Amino acid sequence: MSLTIRRLHDIHGEFVRIAPNHITIASPTCFKQISTTKEFEKGEFYDAFVAGLSKHRDLFTTRQNSLHSQRKRIHANAWSMTSVLEMEKYLDELIGLFMHKMGKLADQNELMDLGVWMWRYAYDVIGELFFGQSYGFLEQERDIDNLMATTGMVAPFMGMLGMAPTWFKPFMMWMLAVPSIARGVRNMEGAKEAGQRKVADRIRKIEGGQQTREDMLGKLLNYVWDKGEKVDWTVQDVEQECFVATVAGNDTVAITLTSMLYHLSAHPSSLARLQSEIDQATANGSLSSTISYKEAASLPYLSAVISEGFRIHPLFGYPVPRIVPKGGAEVGGRWWPAGTALGASYGTMEKSKDVFGDDVDSWRPERWLVEKERAARMWDEVGAFGIGQRACLGQHIARAEMMKIIPQFLREFIIEAASPWQCLERWFNKPQNARVKVTRRNRL
Ligand code: HEM
Repeated sequence: MSLTIRRLHDIHGEFVRIAPNHITIASPTCFKQISTTKEFEKGEFYDAFVAGLSKHRDLFTTRQNSLHSQRKRIHANAWSMTSVLEMEKYLDELIGLFMHKMGKLADQNELMDLGVWMWRYAYDVIGELFFGQSYGFLEQERDIDNLMATTGMVAPFMGMLGMAPTWFKPFMMWMLAVPSIARGVRNMEGAKEAGQRKVADRIRKIEGGQQTREDMLGKLLNYVWDKGEKVDWTVQDVEQECFVATVAGNDTVAITLTSMLYHLSAHPSSLARLQSEIDQATANGSLSSTISYKEAASLPYLSAVISEGFRIHPLFGYPVPRIVPKGGAEVGGRWWPAGTALGASYGTMEKSKDVFGDDVDSWRPERWLVEKERAARMWDEVGAFGIGQRACLGQHIARAEMMKIIPQFLREFIIEAASPWQCLERWFNKPQNARVKVTRRNRL
């Protein structure tokens, strides 16, 4: 859908009506306005994603901005980069396991499906950071409890349900009779229950005086015991936010990492430049054998690759809508009546020639190697994590995952694209068959 929307914007300009009450916008300035003005709230689209584990909604689906900012305060510390980096050693362990698996693939001359391996990594990270234990996807190299197939099935359904007009939504329930979708929804309920069991187990351990590991679950539970009554933050809220993290934290990271690595594998000169940066930094002692987030963040070409990976491949296939408030509002020099859904089209904004130059469809990380302020402005235009109050809560987790695995992987291995990827465009733009050949490098 993002490609179609982009084509329509090329023909019709800044605003495109994709449904009677839904307009997509291509202008980063308008995107900023609707994302940072508190009167523009989330709309009915988000109702399709409600987990229903608590009397409150989770942060992602809370529509009312005033309520959202109250609830967001509860999360501030737990999701900060400082908090994520306190758990860095668990990422290191998973990356160590990933490297071992890549060695095996290389030695057996097997192709690697980037989408699958990055998904396994992303899901295991959520297990480690939220529940103190990886799910075992990397270890077992298979789809445990069908979770990968389930998200692949249920996320597109929820996206379609969200986009459908109100009157049509009940008719969409017939889709639940499709055996694969019905199975997906049942599995998703199973995943919720499994999460609830983990929370209950943790509470039992803490109450029994057992030592437990520092993780997001522990931090969010501590908040229940410290201030829960005062701010109405309950164990059910913790269960719900942890479940949402398992849904929000896998496809998002896997797709973006796949984009970065696939484009590097298809552009050997770009890969060589990154590997040379990594080798030099290793030789001069700025990168340890297990690369830390802080060390990786000092590599300019790596940062450029990450930004370009976000830009070239929009994560969201659908626009991300906000509702025009009571009384109507002017956006982009036009008046919009109250209730209109204005949706930012990432796939169009990220390809703005005014911001990124004429070669917007080409992979060129070098475009990000400009003065810091200019790169920051360009990043704002991409808006990959959203901007303003409703921006991505998991962005520090995602950044740490990417910054760490890419240099560690590419210091030891060369990747070559084995076949052109295809993309399944739904709520997410999901790469399919992004297969690469993995070869060990002979580093001096
Ligand atoms: C590359 C990875 C990711 C990208 C590009 C991304 C992007 C986004 C975007 C654009 C939004 C705003 C959506 C909207 O306005 O409808 C968002 C919200 C959110 N994301 Fe992410 N995300 C990523 C990874 C993650 C991870 C790893 C987690 C959790 C572990 C996460 C959890 C959330 C949550 C909870 C929200 C709702 C925030 C709020 O409304 O306060 N995301 N994400």
